[in-house]
Amino acid sequence: MRALAPLLALALSCTAALAQDTIAIKVDTSQPGPKIDRHIFGQFAEHLGTQIYGGIWVGPKSKIPNSRGIRKDVVAALKALHVPDVRWPGGCYADQYHWRDGVGKKRNARVNASWGNVLDPNTFGTHEFMDFVDQIGSEAYVSLNVGSGTVKEAADWVEYMTATTPTALARERAANGHKAPFKVQFVGLGNESWDCGGLMTPAFYTDQMKLYGRFVNNYNAAVPMQKIAVGPGDSGTDWTEAVMDTWKKRHGWSFDINGMSLHSYTVFGGWPPHMAATGFGGQDYANVLGETLKMEPLIRSQSAVMDKYDPEKKIALVVDEWGGWYAPMPGSNPAFLQQQNSMRDAVLAALNLDIFMRHADRVRMANIAQMVNVLQAMIFTDGPKLVLTPTYHVFRMYVPFQDSTFLPVAYDAGTYVEAGVTLPRVDVVAAKTKDGKIVVALANIDPGRPVDLSVSLPGATAATARGQTLAAPKVDSVNSFAAPNAVAPKPVTARVTDGALTVTLAPASVTVLTLGG
Ligand code: AHR
Repeated sequence: MRALAPLLALALSCTAALAQDTIAIKVDTSQPGPKIDRHIFGQFAEHLGTQIYGGIWVGPKSKIPNSRGIRKDVVAALKALHVPDVRWPGGCYADQYHWRDGVGKKRNARVNASWGNVLDPNTFGTHEFMDFVDQIGSEAYVSLNVGSGTVKEAADWVEYMTATTPTALARERAANGHKAPFKVQFVGLGNESWDCGGLMTPAFYTDQMKLYGRFVNNYNAAVPMQKIAVGPGDSGTDWTEAVMDTWKKRHGWSFDINGMSLHSYTVFGGWPPHMAATGFGGQDYANVLGETLKMEPLIRSQSAVMDKYDPEKKIALVVDEWGGWYAPMPGSNPAFLQQQNSMRDAVLAALNLDIFMRHADRVRMANIAQMVNVLQAMIFTDGPKLVLTPTYHVFRMYVPFQDSTFLPVAYDAGTYVEAGVTLPRVDVVAAKTKDGKIVVALANIDPGRPVDLSVSLPGATAATARGQTLAAPKVDSVNSFAAPNAVAPKPVTARVTDGALTVTLAPASVTVLTLGG
């Protein structure tokens, strides 16, 4: 032990010296980039596990405080996130969903064949979803059934929701309690049609896409509707080529789309997802974050294909399913996709949001999977109890980026190496907010070392930058019903001297600062 002491002292002094290495970051306020669409911060609520029933909907007779059956505590928490849109009812479930089961006085209970063959009472249907979206101040992204449904069924559903004249379907909607048309800002033309959505070939799907795109009409002219086609779920480009080629050759007065989806989960080590969501160490932390950073080349390569057909970037790349997917929570129904959410997930969320913002010219919408009690959720509920996850806190801290303007940043991120995995040490994004302030998001990926940053902001007149920082004692720290604030943001103020902001980031942390904020 005595022989090791000098080595230990040397190691500690190196660590101290490294901690003092300042990473210089330059924000270029003179070259504003694209708008960062607020829809990049969208969410996804599928009929899956305890997300809808129990997590969002408890019914008007429940003892859990609710407004017309929708949990008040969940609504209050989600309102703070300014959720721009909610994708519903799936996912795989969307291609088995028949909207008529979920409207009117008499609801038709059905088997949820996508997720555990449990009974779906269909008490949460179109009207309840629209009420939920209204209560949280969001917009509707409705996934249409292109798998087991028909073009007529989908066209009727959208007419039912949007007709402004007294058609039979509009009168039925009024009789069911909603005279005014609903606002449907987005529809999805199917979900993963290459797999759970019907195992279609690209050619078969693009024919469906044209049919649904042609005959599904929005009748509420006051609320323009965007149509989102099914896109790829991996780095292959055949599907993207087929969708974009069809769009290029055939779009016009009778058919058009506004976006193409991309699904990409962070699953280290291949399917089925088997990494632990908690109780992991440094190596798994690095492996999972290394995997999540593959979102960057994936978006780059899919965008390159889109650019060939659509150099003007009319079609958005909509990453409408993303997030960490791990082994099911021990003791839970594996079909319910319940998993814990740790500090690692907070960093993972920040890294993905940063990637989307860097590609804001093409990525104009994204939906994390999912919202409540499923996969990388914002919120966990258990009966009347509710807990906010570390991922929730990141989404809340990133609110200033909604509809901001991207600002280029230049820096040398350095490296963090763990058991053969080399990752950047930091990740930084900057933007000008809607009200003209500069906001920066700073992630220290390295769980072993704090890092000093000097962020130069030409033209900055404010003396301070304020915001919040999210860090935790361990990378696998989580919030639980027993300890709901183990991972919670803390206020932080940074000095701005001579146009440069200096701040020290804790290991494995996420910080968002607004200049003069
Ligand atoms: O989010 C869970 C599932 O993952 C969705 O239903 C499906 O689209 C994807 O495979």
